[in-house]
Amino acid sequence: MKDLKTIILAAGKGVRMKSKTPKILHPVCGKPMIQYVLDIAKSLGSKKICVVLGHKNEVVKKILGAGISVVIQKKLLGTGDAIKSCAVQFQGYRGDVLVLCGDTPLLNEGTVKKLIAKHRDSKTACTFLTTAVQNPQGYGRVIRSVGGSVVVIREDMDATGEEKSVKEINVGAYCFKSQDLFQAIKAIRPENNKKEFYITDVIEIFTKDNKGIETVMTDDIKEGLGINTREDLAFAQGVLRRRILKHFMLEGVTIEDPSTTFIDNDVKIGYDTTIRPFTVIERHVRIGNKCVIGPFCHIRAHSAIGNNVCMGNFTEVSRSTVGDETLMKHFSFLGDAQVGKRVNIGAGVVTANFDGKRKNITKILDGAFVGSDSILVAPLKIGRKAVTGAGCVITKGTTVPDGSVAMGIPARIQSRRKK
Ligand code: UD1
Ligand code: CA
Repeated sequence: MKDLKTIILAAGKGVRMKSKTPKILHPVCGKPMIQYVLDIAKSLGSKKICVVLGHKNEVVKKILGAGISVVIQKKLLGTGDAIKSCAVQFQGYRGDVLVLCGDTPLLNEGTVKKLIAKHRDSKTACTFLTTAVQNPQGYGRVIRSVGGSVVVIREDMDATGEEKSVKEINVGAYCFKSQDLFQAIKAIRPENNKKEFYITDVIEIFTKDNKGIETVMTDDIKEGLGINTREDLAFAQGVLRRRILKHFMLEGVTIEDPSTTFIDNDVKIGYDTTIRPFTVIERHVRIGNKCVIGPFCHIRAHSAIGNNVCMGNFTEVSRSTVGDETLMKHFSFLGDAQVGKRVNIGAGVVTANFDGKRKNITKILDGAFVGSDSILVAPLKIGRKAVTGAGCVITKGTTVPDGSVAMGIPARIQSRRKK
């Protein structure tokens, strides 16, 4: 987007989470919280994305990826101080600055677009997002004049009785004219109950200087939720989960019971696939068309399932690929497996992929029939149209040739079948 740079505030400790992991790295539907706002900043085409880090910044940096500037806030003196630490990066820049908080994963991209559009139309020094909530406790209140214009944002700890009853709150997403922001930020002081520098104090400065201030209200009050506690985290997860399920249903996926279906972000599922109850599908999983998944199925991250695949009761698939028309109907585990097309995985089949030191690969080629209760000690390979007998243990390093049969413990290759 023309002349837009973004700052993401993410230095805070997140004390209320009571966690050794920085708050913004806690996953929401499989994806770290901060990644949601980062994705918005990226898709808006920000010319620069500046993330302010402090607490455990080394750990956070690792997940940010290329093209992101990191600014370290040395002491956590508040959101205003976090902005100050970016000043050098914005010297001489005359465009707009979008400021987002790393702890608002429910924010919609469309809402942020509206915020920027209104800011540009109204030519104000600042436009920020607000929402009206039932319980505004903990949030900054938007205090307006009789005429309706914004006068100040009052933080919860500093609000008077009357101010506390205001239900319109500051979401923590702002669009500023860069020069106005960095000019005003110099003047803020930590004169409040928290003894912190508040970014929100620039609003009062703009009011005094007669610079325009505008607001945009979110369509959905949940969008404004800032995650501060584990309870907020669970709530946000619930909201996002329903958004994800709705998306799939609109795309032609049947979800038999949304209340017991858990699908992470960044999953792809093809049309006419049915997801049966009590199913968990993790991040970066791909599922094709016309599959039946579940009930009680767990597909773990980075697995790819083809078309017309059936995965039934108590099945788990981890880091594996499964080809078209393969059946795996009852209590089985595939880990680090590459399974071909039209394979039958019998009841109770287990890939023993971990030898105590490393994860090993199991290859099962097209048309193979893996008998019930076969234990496949990886690494190994089962050839095309090969058969394994019920209850066999196929040991490490074995190749069962195409079309042959393996039986017993340890399994021996016993006969050859017509290919
Ligand atoms: C802030 C707003 C409040 C708003 C609320 C919305 C201020 C003063 N208040 O309050 O008006 O209603 O968000 O959720 O801004 N951070 C830093 N450095 C710091 C302190 C915080 O980078 O020194 C980051 C945090 O990592 C977080 C964001 O800024 O991502 C907001 O900080 P937080 O402490 O959660 O602010 P709130 O008290 O929720
Ligand atoms: Ca917060």
